[in-house]
Amino acid sequence: MAKLKTSYYCNACGAVAPKWSGQCGDCGAWNSLVESVEPKPSGGQRFSGYSGDAASNHVRALDQVDLKPESRIPTGMQELDRVLGGGLTSGSVVLIGGDPGIGKSTLLTQTMAALSTQQNILYVSGEESLQQISLRAQRLGLPTEKFNCLAETSVERITRLALKSRPRVMVIDSIQTVFTELLTSAPGSVSQVRECAAQLTQFAKQTDTALFLVGHVTKEGAIAGPRVLEHMVDTVLYFEGDSGSRFRIIRAIKNRFGAVNELGVFAMSDKGLKEVSNPSAIFLSRHESPVAGSMIMVMREGSRPMLVEAQALVDESHLPNPKRVTLGLEQNRLSMLLAVLHRHAGVAMYNQDVYVNVVGGVRVTETAADLAVVLAVLSSFRDVPLAGDMIAFGEIGLAGEVRPVPNGLERIREAAKHGFKTAIVPSANVQKNDSIAGMKIIPVQRLHEAIGCL
Ligand code: TYD
Ligand code: MG
Repeated sequence: MAKLKTSYYCNACGAVAPKWSGQCGDCGAWNSLVESVEPKPSGGQRFSGYSGDAASNHVRALDQVDLKPESRIPTGMQELDRVLGGGLTSGSVVLIGGDPGIGKSTLLTQTMAALSTQQNILYVSGEESLQQISLRAQRLGLPTEKFNCLAETSVERITRLALKSRPRVMVIDSIQTVFTELLTSAPGSVSQVRECAAQLTQFAKQTDTALFLVGHVTKEGAIAGPRVLEHMVDTVLYFEGDSGSRFRIIRAIKNRFGAVNELGVFAMSDKGLKEVSNPSAIFLSRHESPVAGSMIMVMREGSRPMLVEAQALVDESHLPNPKRVTLGLEQNRLSMLLAVLHRHAGVAMYNQDVYVNVVGGVRVTETAADLAVVLAVLSSFRDVPLAGDMIAFGEIGLAGEVRPVPNGLERIREAAKHGFKTAIVPSANVQKNDSIAGMKIIPVQRLHEAIGCL
Protein backbone atom coordinates (compact mmCIF):
# COMPACT_ATOMS: atom_id res chain seq x y z
CA MET A 1 0.00 0.00 0.00
CA ALA A 2 1.37 3.41 -0.89
CA LYS A 3 1.97 5.45 2.20
CA LEU A 4 -0.33 8.44 2.48
CA LYS A 5 1.31 11.79 3.01
CA THR A 6 0.93 13.43 6.35
CA SER A 7 1.28 17.01 7.33
CA TYR A 8 0.82 19.12 10.42
CA TYR A 9 -2.18 21.32 11.07
CA CYS A 10 -2.45 24.09 13.61
CA ASN A 11 -5.39 23.44 15.95
CA ALA A 12 -5.81 27.16 16.54
CA CYS A 13 -5.72 28.73 13.06
CA GLY A 14 -5.71 25.79 10.62
CA ALA A 15 -2.38 26.61 9.02
CA VAL A 16 -0.55 23.68 7.39
CA ALA A 17 3.12 22.94 7.95
CA PRO A 18 5.22 20.15 6.48
CA LYS A 19 7.09 19.57 9.75
CA TRP A 20 6.25 19.68 13.42
CA SER A 21 7.42 22.65 15.43
CA GLY A 22 6.64 23.95 18.87
CA GLN A 23 5.05 27.14 17.66
CA CYS A 24 2.73 27.77 14.74
CA GLY A 25 4.53 29.97 12.21
CA ASP A 26 1.28 31.63 11.22
CA CYS A 27 -0.60 32.54 14.37
CA GLY A 28 2.14 32.04 16.92
CA ALA A 29 0.14 29.61 19.10
CA TRP A 30 2.33 27.27 21.13
CA ASN A 31 2.10 23.49 20.93
CA SER A 32 -0.90 23.55 18.61
CA LEU A 33 0.42 21.54 15.64
CA VAL A 34 -1.05 18.05 15.25
CA GLU A 35 -0.20 15.45 12.67
CA SER A 36 -2.91 14.52 10.22
CA VAL A 37 -3.32 12.45 7.06
CA GLU A 38 -3.51 14.60 3.97
CA PRO A 39 -6.79 14.01 2.20
CA LYS A 40 -6.37 12.54 -1.28
CA PRO A 41 -7.74 14.81 -4.01
CA SER A 42 -11.00 13.11 -4.95
CA GLY A 43 -11.16 14.43 -8.52
CA GLY A 44 -14.14 16.61 -7.65
CA GLN A 45 -14.78 19.91 -9.30
CA ARG A 46 -15.20 23.29 -7.74
CA PHE A 47 -18.61 24.79 -8.19
CA SER A 48 -18.31 27.06 -11.19
CA GLY A 49 -21.73 28.02 -12.41
CA TYR A 50 -24.28 25.64 -13.92
CA SER A 51 -22.67 22.55 -15.34
CA GLY A 52 -25.51 20.64 -16.95
CA ASP A 53 -26.46 17.20 -15.61
CA ALA A 54 -26.00 16.42 -11.93
CA ALA A 55 -24.34 13.31 -10.56
CA SER A 56 -26.31 10.25 -9.44
CA ASN A 57 -26.92 11.85 -6.03
CA HIS A 58 -29.95 14.10 -6.00
CA VAL A 59 -32.14 16.23 -3.79
CA ARG A 60 -35.35 14.66 -2.57
CA ALA A 61 -38.14 15.24 -0.09
CA LEU A 62 -37.89 13.48 3.26
CA ASP A 63 -40.98 11.33 2.63
CA GLN A 64 -39.30 9.84 -0.44
CA VAL A 65 -36.32 8.53 1.51
CA ASP A 66 -36.28 4.71 1.68
CA LEU A 67 -36.29 3.69 5.29
CA LYS A 68 -34.66 0.61 6.61
CA PRO A 69 -36.47 -0.62 9.71
CA GLU A 70 -34.29 0.42 12.63
CA SER A 71 -32.97 -2.72 14.19
CA ARG A 72 -32.13 -2.72 17.86
CA ILE A 73 -30.00 -5.36 19.49
CA PRO A 74 -30.90 -5.88 23.16
CA THR A 75 -27.68 -6.04 25.15
CA GLY A 76 -29.06 -8.30 27.84
CA MET A 77 -28.51 -5.56 30.44
CA GLN A 78 -31.63 -3.50 30.94
CA GLU A 79 -29.82 -0.61 32.55
CA LEU A 80 -27.47 -0.35 29.58
CA ASP A 81 -30.35 -0.67 27.11
CA ARG A 82 -32.08 2.16 28.91
CA VAL A 83 -29.21 4.63 28.47
CA LEU A 84 -28.77 3.52 24.86
CA GLY A 85 -32.40 4.43 24.24
CA GLY A 86 -33.80 0.90 24.07
CA GLY A 87 -30.96 -1.31 22.87
CA LEU A 88 -27.97 -1.09 20.62
CA THR A 89 -28.58 0.22 17.09
CA SER A 90 -26.71 -1.63 14.38
CA GLY A 91 -24.14 0.50 12.62
CA SER A 92 -23.95 2.87 15.57
CA VAL A 93 -20.79 3.92 17.37
CA VAL A 94 -20.94 4.21 21.15
CA LEU A 95 -18.16 5.86 23.12
CA ILE A 96 -17.89 4.79 26.78
CA GLY A 97 -15.76 7.11 28.87
CA GLY A 98 -14.71 6.87 32.46
CA ASP A 99 -11.85 6.93 34.95
CA PRO A 100 -9.41 4.03 34.86
CA GLY A 101 -10.59 1.11 37.00
CA ILE A 102 -14.22 2.18 37.14
CA GLY A 103 -15.40 -0.95 35.35
CA LYS A 104 -15.61 -0.21 31.62
CA SER A 105 -13.88 -3.43 30.63
CA THR A 106 -15.94 -5.39 33.15
CA LEU A 107 -19.21 -4.01 31.82
CA LEU A 108 -18.29 -4.68 28.21
CA THR A 109 -16.98 -8.18 28.94
CA GLN A 110 -20.27 -9.03 30.63
CA THR A 111 -22.35 -7.44 27.87
CA MET A 112 -20.41 -9.12 25.08
CA ALA A 113 -20.55 -12.49 26.80
CA ALA A 114 -24.33 -12.19 27.06
CA LEU A 115 -24.55 -11.08 23.42
CA SER A 116 -22.23 -13.81 22.19
CA THR A 117 -24.87 -16.45 22.74
CA GLN A 118 -27.03 -14.87 20.01
CA GLN A 119 -24.75 -12.70 17.86
CA ASN A 120 -21.36 -12.88 16.28
CA ILE A 121 -19.21 -10.61 18.41
CA LEU A 122 -15.60 -9.46 18.54
CA TYR A 123 -13.80 -8.05 21.57
CA VAL A 124 -10.58 -6.26 20.61
CA SER A 125 -8.30 -5.47 23.51
CA GLY A 126 -5.21 -3.36 23.27
CA GLU A 127 -4.75 -3.18 27.02
CA GLU A 128 -5.09 -6.69 28.34
CA SER A 129 -3.81 -10.02 27.08
CA LEU A 130 -6.26 -12.69 25.97
CA GLN A 131 -5.28 -14.64 29.08
CA GLN A 132 -6.34 -11.81 31.37
CA ILE A 133 -9.68 -11.43 29.62
CA SER A 134 -10.29 -15.15 29.69
CA LEU A 135 -9.45 -15.39 33.39
CA ARG A 136 -11.77 -12.54 34.20
CA ALA A 137 -14.62 -14.02 32.16
CA GLN A 138 -14.19 -17.36 33.89
CA ARG A 139 -14.10 -15.79 37.30
CA LEU A 140 -17.33 -13.98 36.52
CA GLY A 141 -18.88 -17.26 35.36
CA LEU A 142 -19.63 -15.96 31.85
CA PRO A 143 -20.26 -18.13 28.79
CA THR A 144 -17.00 -18.15 26.79
CA GLU A 145 -17.53 -20.66 23.95
CA LYS A 146 -18.45 -18.00 21.39
CA PHE A 147 -16.63 -15.08 22.95
CA ASN A 148 -14.35 -14.04 20.09
CA CYS A 149 -11.36 -12.08 21.24
CA LEU A 150 -8.44 -10.35 19.62
CA ALA A 151 -5.39 -8.72 21.18
CA GLU A 152 -4.28 -6.18 18.60
CA THR A 153 -3.47 -2.50 18.42
CA SER A 154 -3.13 -1.72 14.71
CA VAL A 155 -6.36 -0.33 13.28
CA GLU A 156 -5.52 -1.62 9.81
CA ARG A 157 -5.05 -5.15 11.09
CA ILE A 158 -8.16 -4.92 13.31
CA THR A 159 -10.39 -3.86 10.43
CA ARG A 160 -8.87 -6.47 8.10
CA LEU A 161 -9.51 -9.28 10.61
CA ALA A 162 -12.96 -7.93 11.44
CA LEU A 163 -13.88 -7.91 7.76
CA LYS A 164 -13.14 -11.63 7.74
CA SER A 165 -15.11 -12.57 10.84
CA ARG A 166 -17.95 -10.04 10.24
CA PRO A 167 -19.08 -9.40 13.84
CA ARG A 168 -22.39 -7.65 14.47
CA VAL A 169 -21.08 -6.09 17.66
CA MET A 170 -17.48 -5.09 18.20
CA VAL A 171 -15.60 -3.57 21.15
CA ILE A 172 -12.36 -1.59 20.97
CA ASP A 173 -10.80 -1.45 24.44
CA SER A 174 -9.46 1.23 24.34
CA ILE A 175 -9.23 3.86 21.61
CA GLN A 176 -6.10 5.29 23.26
CA THR A 177 -4.11 2.10 22.74
CA VAL A 178 -4.82 1.55 19.05
CA PHE A 179 -2.83 3.26 16.32
CA THR A 180 -2.91 3.67 12.58
CA GLU A 181 0.14 2.97 10.45
CA LEU A 182 -0.58 6.14 8.48
CA LEU A 183 0.66 8.39 11.26
CA THR A 184 3.97 8.38 13.07
CA SER A 185 2.76 9.94 16.32
CA ALA A 186 2.40 7.82 19.45
CA PRO A 187 -0.84 5.93 20.24
CA GLY A 188 -3.07 8.06 22.44
CA SER A 189 -2.06 11.36 20.83
CA VAL A 190 -4.82 13.56 19.50
CA SER A 191 -4.11 12.86 15.86
CA GLN A 192 -3.92 9.09 16.40
CA VAL A 193 -7.14 8.99 18.42
CA ARG A 194 -8.96 11.06 15.83
CA GLU A 195 -7.72 9.15 12.82
CA CYS A 196 -8.31 5.72 14.43
CA ALA A 197 -11.81 6.68 15.49
CA ALA A 198 -12.55 7.99 12.00
CA GLN A 199 -11.42 4.72 10.39
CA LEU A 200 -13.31 2.56 12.86
CA THR A 201 -16.46 4.68 12.53
CA GLN A 202 -16.30 4.33 8.78
CA PHE A 203 -15.88 0.58 9.18
CA ALA A 204 -18.93 0.42 11.47
CA LYS A 205 -21.11 2.42 9.09
CA GLN A 206 -20.10 0.47 6.01
CA THR A 207 -20.47 -2.98 7.52
CA ASP A 208 -23.46 -2.14 9.75
CA THR A 209 -21.53 -3.24 12.84
CA ALA A 210 -22.44 -1.83 16.24
CA LEU A 211 -19.21 -0.54 17.74
CA PHE A 212 -18.26 0.26 21.33
CA LEU A 213 -15.20 2.46 21.81
CA VAL A 214 -13.71 2.65 25.29
CA GLY A 215 -12.12 6.02 26.05
CA HIS A 216 -10.13 7.01 29.10
CA VAL A 217 -10.93 10.27 30.74
CA THR A 218 -8.11 12.74 31.22
CA LYS A 219 -7.42 14.69 34.37
CA GLU A 220 -9.55 17.53 33.05
CA GLY A 221 -12.50 15.17 32.74
CA ALA A 222 -12.75 15.18 28.95
CA ILE A 223 -12.33 12.00 26.97
CA ALA A 224 -8.74 12.28 25.74
CA GLY A 225 -8.22 14.22 22.61
CA PRO A 226 -9.91 17.58 23.17
CA ARG A 227 -13.41 16.22 22.80
CA VAL A 228 -12.56 15.30 19.22
CA LEU A 229 -14.30 11.99 19.61
CA GLU A 230 -17.58 13.25 20.97
CA HIS A 231 -18.90 14.60 17.72
CA MET A 232 -17.62 11.74 15.60
CA VAL A 233 -19.67 9.09 17.37
CA ASP A 234 -23.43 8.55 17.71
CA THR A 235 -23.65 8.06 21.44
CA VAL A 236 -21.45 9.16 24.34
CA LEU A 237 -21.82 7.40 27.68
CA TYR A 238 -19.95 8.35 30.82
CA PHE A 239 -19.29 5.92 33.61
CA GLU A 240 -19.15 7.70 36.95
CA GLY A 241 -19.04 6.77 40.61
CA ASP A 242 -17.21 7.47 43.82
CA SER A 243 -14.06 5.44 44.30
CA GLY A 244 -15.29 4.65 47.80
CA SER A 245 -18.77 3.62 46.76
CA ARG A 246 -19.62 0.40 44.99
CA PHE A 247 -22.34 2.03 42.93
CA ARG A 248 -21.64 3.01 39.36
CA ILE A 249 -23.78 5.31 37.27
CA ILE A 250 -23.72 5.32 33.52
CA ARG A 251 -25.02 8.50 31.94
CA ALA A 252 -25.85 9.34 28.33
CA ILE A 253 -24.31 12.71 27.38
CA LYS A 254 -25.19 12.51 23.72
CA ASN A 255 -27.45 10.05 21.97
CA ARG A 256 -28.60 10.13 18.36
CA PHE A 257 -30.99 7.27 19.06
CA GLY A 258 -32.62 8.20 22.37
CA ALA A 259 -32.94 10.67 25.20
CA VAL A 260 -29.94 12.13 26.96
CA ASN A 261 -29.51 12.40 30.71
CA GLU A 262 -30.85 8.88 31.00
CA LEU A 263 -29.19 7.01 33.88
CA GLY A 264 -28.30 3.38 34.33
CA VAL A 265 -27.29 2.23 37.80
CA PHE A 266 -24.96 -0.69 38.57
CA ALA A 267 -23.31 -2.05 41.67
CA MET A 268 -19.80 -3.50 41.53
CA SER A 269 -19.61 -6.82 43.36
CA ASP A 270 -17.09 -9.64 43.50
CA LYS A 271 -19.03 -11.22 40.63
CA GLY A 272 -18.83 -8.20 38.36
CA LEU A 273 -21.38 -5.46 37.78
CA LYS A 274 -24.93 -6.11 38.93
CA GLU A 275 -27.86 -4.08 37.66
CA VAL A 276 -29.76 -1.97 40.15
CA SER A 277 -33.29 -1.72 38.83
CA ASN A 278 -34.71 0.15 41.82
CA PRO A 279 -32.12 2.84 42.47
CA SER A 280 -34.26 4.84 44.91
CA ALA A 281 -33.76 2.29 47.62
CA ILE A 282 -29.96 2.42 47.58
CA PHE A 283 -29.35 6.13 47.85
CA LEU A 284 -31.41 6.43 51.00
CA SER A 285 -29.62 5.91 54.26
CA ARG A 286 -32.55 5.52 56.58
CA HIS A 287 -31.45 6.63 60.00
CA GLU A 288 -32.59 4.83 63.15
CA SER A 289 -34.07 8.05 64.47
CA PRO A 290 -34.39 11.37 62.67
CA VAL A 291 -31.10 13.34 62.58
CA ALA A 292 -30.51 17.02 61.99
CA GLY A 293 -29.25 18.09 58.58
CA SER A 294 -30.81 15.38 56.48
CA MET A 295 -33.57 15.72 53.93
CA ILE A 296 -34.81 13.40 51.21
CA MET A 297 -35.37 14.84 47.75
CA VAL A 298 -36.84 13.35 44.64
CA MET A 299 -34.68 13.91 41.62
CA ARG A 300 -35.51 12.87 38.13
CA GLU A 301 -32.80 11.77 35.80
CA GLY A 302 -33.83 10.68 32.35
CA SER A 303 -37.11 8.88 32.46
CA ARG A 304 -37.46 7.90 36.09
CA PRO A 305 -37.61 9.57 39.47
CA MET A 306 -35.12 8.68 42.16
CA LEU A 307 -35.10 9.34 45.90
CA VAL A 308 -31.82 10.72 47.14
CA GLU A 309 -30.73 12.02 50.52
CA ALA A 310 -29.15 15.46 50.87
CA GLN A 311 -27.05 15.97 53.99
CA ALA A 312 -25.85 19.26 55.38
CA LEU A 313 -23.54 20.26 58.18
CA VAL A 314 -23.46 23.84 59.37
CA ASP A 315 -20.75 24.68 61.84
CA GLU A 316 -19.38 27.88 63.33
CA SER A 317 -16.49 29.19 61.25
CA HIS A 318 -13.30 30.82 62.42
CA LEU A 319 -12.19 31.70 58.93
CA PRO A 320 -12.47 35.13 57.33
CA ASN A 321 -14.06 33.37 54.33
CA PRO A 322 -16.36 30.65 55.68
CA LYS A 323 -16.31 27.41 53.75
CA ARG A 324 -18.98 26.40 51.25
CA VAL A 325 -18.25 22.80 50.37
CA THR A 326 -20.49 20.69 48.15
CA LEU A 327 -20.22 17.09 46.99
CA GLY A 328 -22.51 16.03 44.18
CA LEU A 329 -23.92 19.53 43.81
CA GLU A 330 -22.76 22.77 42.23
CA GLN A 331 -21.00 25.02 44.70
CA ASN A 332 -22.28 28.27 43.22
CA ARG A 333 -25.81 26.98 43.58
CA LEU A 334 -25.27 26.56 47.33
CA SER A 335 -23.91 30.09 47.66
CA MET A 336 -26.96 31.38 45.83
CA LEU A 337 -29.35 29.40 48.02
CA LEU A 338 -27.67 30.73 51.17
CA ALA A 339 -28.09 34.28 49.87
CA VAL A 340 -31.79 33.68 49.20
CA LEU A 341 -32.14 32.12 52.64
CA HIS A 342 -30.64 35.23 54.21
CA ARG A 343 -32.62 37.75 52.21
CA HIS A 344 -36.03 36.08 52.14
CA ALA A 345 -36.08 34.03 55.32
CA GLY A 346 -33.82 36.12 57.52
CA VAL A 347 -31.36 33.33 58.31
CA ALA A 348 -27.76 34.57 58.16
CA MET A 349 -24.86 32.15 57.74
CA TYR A 350 -21.98 34.53 57.09
CA ASN A 351 -20.13 33.17 60.11
CA GLN A 352 -20.82 29.50 59.44
CA ASP A 353 -19.07 26.81 57.41
CA VAL A 354 -21.61 24.97 55.28
CA TYR A 355 -21.02 21.48 53.91
CA VAL A 356 -23.57 19.73 51.69
CA ASN A 357 -23.27 16.16 50.48
CA VAL A 358 -25.51 14.08 48.26
CA VAL A 359 -25.45 10.53 49.61
CA GLY A 360 -24.19 7.65 47.48
CA GLY A 361 -21.90 9.59 45.15
CA VAL A 362 -24.79 10.78 43.00
CA ARG A 363 -24.31 14.00 41.11
CA VAL A 364 -27.41 16.17 41.07
CA THR A 365 -27.72 18.51 38.11
CA GLU A 366 -31.35 19.49 38.53
CA THR A 367 -32.53 22.66 40.21
CA ALA A 368 -35.35 20.62 41.77
CA ALA A 369 -32.92 19.83 44.58
CA ASP A 370 -32.92 23.43 45.85
CA LEU A 371 -35.71 23.16 48.39
CA ALA A 372 -34.40 19.97 49.99
CA VAL A 373 -30.88 21.42 50.24
CA VAL A 374 -32.14 24.60 51.92
CA LEU A 375 -34.22 22.61 54.39
CA ALA A 376 -31.29 20.30 55.21
CA VAL A 377 -29.00 23.29 55.78
CA LEU A 378 -31.57 24.96 57.99
CA SER A 379 -32.15 21.78 59.95
CA SER A 380 -28.45 21.45 60.69
CA PHE A 381 -28.10 25.15 61.51
CA ARG A 382 -30.87 24.99 64.11
CA ASP A 383 -29.91 21.45 65.13
CA VAL A 384 -33.52 20.36 64.76
CA PRO A 385 -34.12 16.97 63.11
CA LEU A 386 -36.77 16.91 60.39
CA ALA A 387 -39.40 14.20 60.25
CA GLY A 388 -37.88 11.06 58.72
CA ASP A 389 -40.87 10.39 56.49
CA MET A 390 -40.78 13.73 54.69
CA ILE A 391 -39.57 14.62 51.20
CA ALA A 392 -39.21 17.95 49.43
CA PHE A 393 -38.43 19.18 45.96
CA GLY A 394 -38.70 22.48 44.13
CA GLU A 395 -36.57 25.12 42.49
CA ILE A 396 -35.89 28.28 44.46
CA GLY A 397 -35.79 31.58 42.63
CA LEU A 398 -33.84 34.68 43.58
CA ALA A 399 -37.05 36.39 44.66
CA GLY A 400 -37.63 33.69 47.28
CA GLU A 401 -40.34 31.96 45.30
CA VAL A 402 -40.63 28.17 45.02
CA ARG A 403 -40.90 27.31 41.34
CA PRO A 404 -42.48 24.22 39.84
CA VAL A 405 -40.37 21.38 38.44
CA PRO A 406 -41.19 18.90 35.65
CA ASN A 407 -43.21 15.78 36.51
CA GLY A 408 -44.19 16.84 40.03
CA LEU A 409 -46.92 14.27 40.61
CA GLU A 410 -44.78 11.41 39.40
CA ARG A 411 -42.14 12.38 41.94
CA ILE A 412 -44.68 12.43 44.78
CA ARG A 413 -45.94 9.00 43.71
CA GLU A 414 -42.42 7.58 43.78
CA ALA A 415 -41.99 8.89 47.34
CA ALA A 416 -45.35 7.43 48.40
CA LYS A 417 -44.27 4.07 46.98
CA HIS A 418 -41.30 4.10 49.34
CA GLY A 419 -43.44 4.84 52.38
CA PHE A 420 -42.97 8.57 52.75
CA LYS A 421 -45.90 10.38 54.37
CA THR A 422 -45.36 14.13 53.82
CA ALA A 423 -44.27 16.04 50.73
CA ILE A 424 -43.37 19.73 50.58
CA VAL A 425 -43.79 20.69 46.94
CA PRO A 426 -44.17 23.79 44.75
CA SER A 427 -47.84 24.77 44.71
CA ALA A 428 -47.81 25.11 40.93
CA ASN A 429 -47.01 21.39 40.70
CA VAL A 430 -50.28 20.22 42.26
CA GLN A 431 -53.91 20.97 41.54
CA LYS A 432 -56.47 21.39 44.29
CA ASN A 433 -58.04 17.98 43.86
CA ASP A 434 -54.79 16.04 43.42
CA SER A 435 -54.36 13.49 46.13
CA ILE A 436 -52.16 10.49 46.56
CA ALA A 437 -53.07 7.75 49.00
CA GLY A 438 -51.14 7.90 52.25
CA MET A 439 -49.34 11.14 51.33
CA LYS A 440 -49.91 14.51 52.90
CA ILE A 441 -49.08 17.09 50.25
CA ILE A 442 -48.05 20.55 51.44
CA PRO A 443 -48.01 23.00 48.52
CA VAL A 444 -45.83 26.09 49.07
CA GLN A 445 -45.38 29.24 47.07
CA ARG A 446 -42.57 30.98 48.90
CA LEU A 447 -39.50 29.86 50.79
CA HIS A 448 -40.66 31.20 54.16
CA GLU A 449 -43.88 29.15 53.82
CA ALA A 450 -41.84 26.00 53.38
CA ILE A 451 -39.77 26.86 56.45
CA GLY A 452 -42.90 27.73 58.39
CA CYS A 453 -44.49 24.34 57.88
CA LEU A 454 -41.59 22.39 59.35
P1 TYD B 1 -12.12 -2.60 34.90
O1 TYD B 1 -13.32 -3.07 34.17
O2 TYD B 1 -10.85 -3.27 34.59
O3 TYD B 1 -11.94 -1.03 34.74
P2 TYD B 1 -11.64 -0.15 33.45
O4 TYD B 1 -11.69 -1.03 32.26
O5 TYD B 1 -12.72 0.89 33.48
O6 TYD B 1 -10.31 0.47 33.68
O7 TYD B 1 -12.51 -2.69 36.42
C1 TYD B 1 -11.58 -2.99 37.35
C2 TYD B 1 -12.04 -2.71 38.73
O8 TYD B 1 -13.23 -3.36 39.09
C3 TYD B 1 -10.98 -3.19 39.65
O9 TYD B 1 -10.58 -2.15 40.49
C4 TYD B 1 -11.59 -4.33 40.40
C5 TYD B 1 -13.06 -4.16 40.24
N1 TYD B 1 -13.77 -5.44 40.06
C6 TYD B 1 -14.56 -5.94 41.07
O10 TYD B 1 -14.68 -5.35 42.14
N2 TYD B 1 -15.25 -7.12 40.87
C7 TYD B 1 -15.15 -7.81 39.73
O11 TYD B 1 -15.79 -8.88 39.59
C8 TYD B 1 -14.33 -7.30 38.68
C9 TYD B 1 -14.18 -8.02 37.39
C10 TYD B 1 -13.66 -6.11 38.89
MG1 MG C 1 -10.09 -1.58 31.05
